[in-house]
Amino acid sequence: MQTATLPDTGIDPLRAVTDPDPYPYYRELATRQPFYRDDRLGLWVAAGPREVAAVLAHPDCRVRPPAQPVPPALAGTAAGDLFGRLIRMNDGAAHAPLKQILMPMLAGLDAAATARRAAAMATMIDAGAAAGTSGERVNRWLFTLPVVTVADLLGLPIAEGGKAAEVAQRVAAFAAAQSQLADAHTVRAGADAAQWLGAWLAGATPGDGPLPALHQAAHAAGIDAQAVAANIIGLLVQACEATAALAGNTLLRLGRDTPQSELPLDAVVARVAREDPPVQNTRRFLAADAQLCGHAVKAGDAVLVLLAAASCSGAAAGERPWTFGHGRHACPGDRVAQALAAATVAALRARGADPAALAQAFRYRPSLNARIPHFL
Ligand code: HEM
Repeated sequence: MQTATLPDTGIDPLRAVTDPDPYPYYRELATRQPFYRDDRLGLWVAAGPREVAAVLAHPDCRVRPPAQPVPPALAGTAAGDLFGRLIRMNDGAAHAPLKQILMPMLAGLDAAATARRAAAMATMIDAGAAAGTSGERVNRWLFTLPVVTVADLLGLPIAEGGKAAEVAQRVAAFAAAQSQLADAHTVRAGADAAQWLGAWLAGATPGDGPLPALHQAAHAAGIDAQAVAANIIGLLVQACEATAALAGNTLLRLGRDTPQSELPLDAVVARVAREDPPVQNTRRFLAADAQLCGHAVKAGDAVLVLLAAASCSGAAAGERPWTFGHGRHACPGDRVAQALAAATVAALRARGADPAALAQAFRYRPSLNARIPHFL
């Protein structure tokens, strides 16, 4: 069994996620140890672009441990029920028909329309904006505008009844409960949030948007309405942390590197997605003994897939940045996410946010996979 042979610098593939500058380390791993066993972490690690793509393409590499479809901390709660119905992070055949309906719907969401709707939603947020220090305000915008814009694009009545801020806050609570670092309080808040969001959605009459057609297609395919509802909430959750991270990392890039302020914002966001990516890794779990990248791996083994290492190796993942994944589970929201991040940064700058000042005072939120700045 191979172990890490790089000099011990105190960094490892999990600490790298929130390290101030993990990219020299990632580059070194991608070149010198593209696939290895990290005995201390108890994980296989894929870091080279070829190895990352091979793991994501392997039929025995599943998104959840086969015996554990729902994270144990959430099992038996409303958040666990909701998680179990998501097409995301699920290889089960039962989820395939809904996935086939949802994916084209997401692909049909247009980047220009996303930017327009985000600008309208920003004006709505202004009306209900609370006071606070500038860091706090920026954090709240990062976690609100992308989520309410996705809700609005889907045709959910997000502007009605002054619910937008609470919807965003509940979505963030549900997303936070899925973290492996979540404590008991965060898990409880996530379960409450799942229940609240389910009730809100049940009482919401969709307006203009793709939802009526989605419900119809799902009904015709015999898919149960609860699964559809769970996946609508799932889309809001998808739009939450990673998009906040992409927008936040774009603010940092603008704050540190003024020449980039001259580039169109979309181009800066696209660069940040490659060079300081919001999602740094994902995991796969072996459903059977297999040969993977020249190594014999066992059923039940876990592989940490370093998307960020593949990204800084210079090899392309096709047209999309590695941070959006690759292969069977690749993110269908990549274009919308980049449009949302650009619109969020634009809205913040239009309201006086100063990237240079923000880049002076921030930390990364504790996370084992997402690089999300928290401004102080
Ligand atoms: C910057 C923002 C985003 C990033 C970095 C991101 C990244 C990812 C990644 C890495 C995966 C694959 C996970 C894996 O293979 O283990 C994924 C899956 C997914 N994403 Fe995103 N995502 C973002 C935003 C969004 C948005 C805005 C939506 C929808 C509105 C979305 C919808 C989905 C869905 C439905 C899946 C599941 C695909 C499947 O399992 O087949 N994502 N995303």
